[in-house]
Amino acid sequence: MSRQEIIQPFAGTHNVQSDLAGRNSIAWEEIEKSFSWHETGKVNMAYESVDRHVADGFGDKIALHYVEEGREWKITYKELKEKTDSWAQVLKKNGVKKDDFLFVFLPKHPECHIAILAAIKLGVIVGPLFEAFMEEAVRDRIADCEGKYIITNEEYLQRVPLKDLSSLETIFLTDENPDYLEAISIPKELEKIDTNESIIEWVDLDDGLNIHYTSGSTGKPKGIIHAHRAMIQQYITGRWVLDIKEEDVYWCTAHPGWVTGCVYGIFAPLLNRATVVIHGGRFNADSWYETIEKTGVTVWYSAPTAFRMLMAEGNEALGRHDLSKLRHILSVGEPLNPEVIYWGVENLNLRIHDTWWMTETGAQLIVNLPTEAIKPGSMGKPLPNIETAIFDDDGNILPLGEVGHLAIKGPWPAIMKGVWKDEAKYASYFPFGPEWYLAGDLASKDEEGYIFFQGRSDDMINSSGERIGPFEVESKLIEHPAVAEAGVIGKPDPIRGEIVKAFIVLNKNYYTSPTLLENIRLFVRGRLAAHSAPREIEVVEELPKTKISGKILRRELKAKEIEKLKLIHV
Ligand code: PRX
Repeated sequence: MSRQEIIQPFAGTHNVQSDLAGRNSIAWEEIEKSFSWHETGKVNMAYESVDRHVADGFGDKIALHYVEEGREWKITYKELKEKTDSWAQVLKKNGVKKDDFLFVFLPKHPECHIAILAAIKLGVIVGPLFEAFMEEAVRDRIADCEGKYIITNEEYLQRVPLKDLSSLETIFLTDENPDYLEAISIPKELEKIDTNESIIEWVDLDDGLNIHYTSGSTGKPKGIIHAHRAMIQQYITGRWVLDIKEEDVYWCTAHPGWVTGCVYGIFAPLLNRATVVIHGGRFNADSWYETIEKTGVTVWYSAPTAFRMLMAEGNEALGRHDLSKLRHILSVGEPLNPEVIYWGVENLNLRIHDTWWMTETGAQLIVNLPTEAIKPGSMGKPLPNIETAIFDDDGNILPLGEVGHLAIKGPWPAIMKGVWKDEAKYASYFPFGPEWYLAGDLASKDEEGYIFFQGRSDDMINSSGERIGPFEVESKLIEHPAVAEAGVIGKPDPIRGEIVKAFIVLNKNYYTSPTLLENIRLFVRGRLAAHSAPREIEVVEELPKTKISGKILRRELKAKEIEKLKLIHV
């Protein structure tokens, strides 16, 4: 097929069409009426995601479908209610209560979902941690909000530096017979629990729900706290953007430690009563396609890097699987290049719908609705009820077509409740007054309202859709005895969007060698996480710096790197 600049919607009936029935939007207050709490005002995300469906007679529907190399486990909504109730009882019995911070550090597995939902039943603020975090990444997060509890397993406990975490009162393990005797074994405790007792702590719409740590270009990761009110937008985007219907089997490939894996891997699909697929293990083209085939995935939410990795595998793996049940595909986290959209149309006979949002925004804001034309290269248009603008540096709204700061008019239901212990950081998102939230992204808008992503206005790195703060990596690099100074940037990469590249100045008496560079790379990888470790390290004599404050000019490093890439491609 010819490559079109605009890809019209494919045939089909979509929720957004029937819900709007010719209107442009529905007021948030009207959407609230979809919830059981709209009269009392007292809410609980876990009730709306699980218990409510059982009360409505859908207890036998499959809620979670887990697959991993030969293993499979299906859990109905009724079983999920019982499990989250009994886990919540175990937590409650051991002192966990509303507004406590509880971290969940588990692999992609139903127990991760159960742990998160059980804690939410108690009104706890849950901090899901990415499964590949190493000691220091775990420590920074738990220590920052003085987390009192963690649910993990004995294998991952090795990466929880207990000696540095004096705030941790109780460790819950998912192992039946852990060697670590100071922890509480959830399976053991469950034997003593009455499985019929329901637990729900009714909370206010603005009470804390979850905390996700996220990087900026300066300082350590910041704790972004969300409130239960986020469910209003998470539900409706699940309905309109993911287009989830009763018969859908839905797979979001992100780990719940990332905001996408939590919001669109747990909350949005369960609020919409979907069957949620959980794939354990790492990326592998065959096992991904097999997951889609075996579980009958109909709606699939992933990221450009994953699609590019599948494209790079060629069509052989694709040809080995029957993906005919797939009907809707979406993408998030990094720019979706037109090539990927054309690949979807040509090989899967489906459009890939880009969506834009951030940890801070709590839910999708700029989207490609299934009913709208897609312009490859654009992130789509604002969700109904959402207004966007492009600002110049002084807070003036720019004319169409010009590149500037992407801003969203607030508030919307899912916007963050706050930045933990950092009011100044929160205020920094609103430099032009409380009305407009600035994303930190640069973008432009065309005459039809389509928004085109143009990059970041800061030095944040986006590798495989994962947000990496250069400061965090630089700080770790200079802890290595050989490294005197470090400047870290995102270097453009055809598969991962960007890769982490470090420029380092060596201390006296150290000489560059492949072994030393590998040692430095592993030093970061072993302490932060694999995705934060520089894939490339270049030793330089000195780093470019600002004249007055002596700050490293990452922009200059990046500009030079991009120049070099251009020369290679000439
Ligand atoms: O730069 C934008 C990029 O990811 C940032 C948000 O990262 P994070 O908080 O980790 O959330 C990721 C997923 C919700 C944004 O500021 N980003 C996100 N989606 C897109 C994107 N860049 C281009 N296109 C997108 N669709």
